[in-house]
Amino acid sequence: MTEFDRSNWAKKEFTQLYRDNADIYIVERKRMFDLMKSFYTHFHGNREKTKVLDLGCGDGVITGELLTVDNNISATLVDASGDMLAKAKERLGGRRNITFIKASFQEMHGKDMPGEDYDFIISSLAIHHLSMTEKRAMFKLIYAHLNEGGHFMNIDVVRAADDTIDQWYMQIWEEWMDKKKSMLGKKGEPSREIIDRYKEADENKPDTLEDQLSAMKEIGFGIVDCYYKYGIFTMYGGKK
Ligand SMILES: C[S@@+](CC[C@H](N)C(=O)[O-])C[C@H]1O[C@@H](n2cnc3c(N)ncnc32)[C@H](O)[C@@H]1O
Repeated sequence: MTEFDRSNWAKKEFTQLYRDNADIYIVERKRMFDLMKSFYTHFHGNREKTKVLDLGCGDGVITGELLTVDNNISATLVDASGDMLAKAKERLGGRRNITFIKASFQEMHGKDMPGEDYDFIISSLAIHHLSMTEKRAMFKLIYAHLNEGGHFMNIDVVRAADDTIDQWYMQIWEEWMDKKKSMLGKKGEPSREIIDRYKEADENKPDTLEDQLSAMKEIGFGIVDCYYKYGIFTMYGGKK
């Protein structure tokens, strides 16, 4: 059994719970999608065909968002969950130039995956499932598979710099979820329990933003920056 198979993401009920509640769990999800599309359009919007790699694609929401601003992209979506990929196929299966790959990030190493190079590599809420050593290896793989001038962007949760600031980040996360639930008229699970589950799950291995930006710079990425941050929710990236 692989590490992924032991994680919550291998359970159908868990992936369903995430899909049903992602707009509640993820702080400012819509705003981050809008920023991602603005970034993409600003740097890649004028090309005839941009090759996109979506790592930890889940139900294909990120590629779906990109397609609303560029109908001509060719996209490869990778996820270790067959259930998530099935949902991504439901969402995007009818589109041209979309490839789905079932693989864990760990499997991608050593198998020369994804096997091609890309202009825009995006990941959302998935890389924090890797240890810092694995994150560094993933960033190297990403760098190796970026075309010159290409960008990598990660939308992800990070570890707070210390416990005092973490307490405040958890407070604003809880406030966000409470507010969002009341706006949507959803009662659901108490926000504190969602936070406790995130904290307790072995598969969540967030590292500090600083460590991740430093690792990217060491690997060779240029113009490494944080594009947005709200508590533990961040968007950061760099250019090859
Ligand atoms: C929080 S969901 C994010 C899905 C989507 N990107 C989004 O933003 O809604 C995390 C995704 O990462 C995938 N994942 C988790 N660990 C993984 C691993 N080790 N290798 C590949 N995919 C993984 C899960 O199957 C899941 O689809």
